[in-house]
Amino acid sequence: MSRHLIAHADEFPPGSGRELTVGDRVIALFRIGDEFYAMDGICPHAGGPLGQGYVSGSRVTCPWHGWQFDVKTGRHCLTPNIVHETFPVILEDGDVYVELP
Ligand code: FES
Repeated sequence: MSRHLIAHADEFPPGSGRELTVGDRVIALFRIGDEFYAMDGICPHAGGPLGQGYVSGSRVTCPWHGWQFDVKTGRHCLTPNIVHETFPVILEDGDVYVELP
């Protein structure tokens, strides 16, 4: 695992998501309440930008064709055997880090 500083919590309002890049990876980072969650930012359906999706509760809707995922688990909301890759997030002194394999 490698740890990467990707955001500052105070720049990230609750209920929001954002697309970020770390090296050659696209990461979708979400803030749900005071917790942060990270998942692979490339939608497994056809490559849509999950970090640009609409966030409601802990659910993000891909802006391209509407697939929905729980950002906490990466699980597809209608087809639970589809589980998108998620990554551990660490919040430390207002800094948000993601751990990537
Ligand atoms: S690319 Fe995400 S739903 Fe199609």
